[in-house]
Amino acid sequence: MTELSHDRLLIIDFGSQVTQLIARRLRELNVFCEIHPFNTVDDAFLDAFDPKAVILSGGPASVVHDESPRPPTSVFDRGVPVLGICYGQQVMMQMLGGKVEGGKISGGGGTAEFGRAYVAPTDNKLDLLDGWFATDREQVWMSHGDHVSRIAPGFEVFGTSPNAPYAITADTSRHFYAVQFHPEVHHTPNGAKLYENFIRLAGFKGDWTMSAYREEAIAAIRAQVGDQKVICGLSGGVDSSVAAVLIHEAIGDQLTCVFVDHGLLRKGEAEEVVTMFRDNYNMPLIHADEQDLFLGELDGVSDPETKRKIIGKLFIDVFQKHAKEVGDATFLAQGTLYPDVIESVSFSGGPSVTIKSHHNVGGLPEKMGLKLVEPLRELFKDEVRALGRELGLPPSFIGRHPFPGPGLAIRCPGEITRPKLDILREADAVYIDQIRKHGLYDEIWQAFVAILPVRTVGVMGDGRTYDFACALRAVTSVDGMTADYYPFTHEFLGETATRIINEVPGINRVTYDITSKPPGTIEWE
Ligand code: XMP
Repeated sequence: MTELSHDRLLIIDFGSQVTQLIARRLRELNVFCEIHPFNTVDDAFLDAFDPKAVILSGGPASVVHDESPRPPTSVFDRGVPVLGICYGQQVMMQMLGGKVEGGKISGGGGTAEFGRAYVAPTDNKLDLLDGWFATDREQVWMSHGDHVSRIAPGFEVFGTSPNAPYAITADTSRHFYAVQFHPEVHHTPNGAKLYENFIRLAGFKGDWTMSAYREEAIAAIRAQVGDQKVICGLSGGVDSSVAAVLIHEAIGDQLTCVFVDHGLLRKGEAEEVVTMFRDNYNMPLIHADEQDLFLGELDGVSDPETKRKIIGKLFIDVFQKHAKEVGDATFLAQGTLYPDVIESVSFSGGPSVTIKSHHNVGGLPEKMGLKLVEPLRELFKDEVRALGRELGLPPSFIGRHPFPGPGLAIRCPGEITRPKLDILREADAVYIDQIRKHGLYDEIWQAFVAILPVRTVGVMGDGRTYDFACALRAVTSVDGMTADYYPFTHEFLGETATRIINEVPGINRVTYDITSKPPGTIEWE
């Protein structure tokens, strides 16, 4: 639990796939909230967290089963507003004296419902719905098997849909609200309004801003680190860069960054990172030029997983070697984000908690006996970008596409050689330049070139060429877990292919990869 001084909203998670979106909607409203799995929330937790309001999330379980998850009953005794969503609505009704029934039934109380639905208002007026019904009905997203067949005492109905007569109910005297649909998803277009109304009537000040976060994070880093030294592995990616700048602002030269150049970076990348941090921020920075080491060990290796293992191990060795130069560092800084630390609820084989923990330099803290400083643990990716802007990092740096740790090694299927890497770097630079010139960079999650392990015949001028083929990749994605290829126009693709072939010696054929993920992956290896 964080030690921030803001009003806090607690989201009790029952395992819905979209619980994180609730947090996103609230953060957009400058409200600080945390997601905690139902089975970690007890009375003591509630006392310590002291929420100003509570949201009960959706979830896959069925309230009608005895073993189904419940929040502590004291949630309803704290005198704070509670909003139940989908499963959260049903659990609320069941616990407060209403009735929930499972499965499909015809007529009467309602049926299972998945997908788009329309909710119409009743004659009753509800503060939660202020400004919500722009017309006589609102589109919402339903996803429920069970349904409420009798609302709890004290509740009234404020919205109905053809299959959900209790789509919106509330006990206005206690500020308990319950909706059958998911206001947090995109398919409930006006859903953010409900959250806005909920936090307003709960009395939140909306003071969770990036400048407030910056001040508090700096104070927290100072309190944690004291006069000790911190080392930070800098990759040039957004997360580690923002973490480094924030920590540097907090403790100045007690922080040293280590930037490992493994020879698998993009054109101009090492210079860009070193110039920015050392020259612009005046930050102690060790530029570890270890290209010979990495490329030497990778010589003749073509298996993708072997490449990854070699790079991962060497990275740790090199980092450790250079960290010794810092002497007596006691802390390691990492750019871990909130989605990496949220405890997720799993229902397979009974409720269990899995914590996904993300270590950029896996295993290092234990091995080196270092403690962790993770100042971005509270933030989502777009909040990290906002913090980066707040800290004055250049927009071009903040908006960069993700770049994998193994770098160009996994964009060079087959054996890695220096000449191939040089060709790849040049082609990639032309491709990205094209994307930027056409104003498409920010629409794309990730774009890069892969150099293929195949030579093809071409004709340039009057001569025969026998050079490498390359593949362009560009995808849209929300989180990298699934992806669609980007629908470039034929004009763009044609112009880009011509530029690459004309400007990059060594490539005479350009292809565009139109595979989605799944079944493909974003990277070629
Ligand atoms: P895939 O290729 O698995 O990529 O669809 C999903 C996202 O992860 C990145 N990626 C990696 N990042 N080490 C990393 O740090 C890796 O070994 C690695 N492999 C893939 C990829 O660039 C994309 O953003």
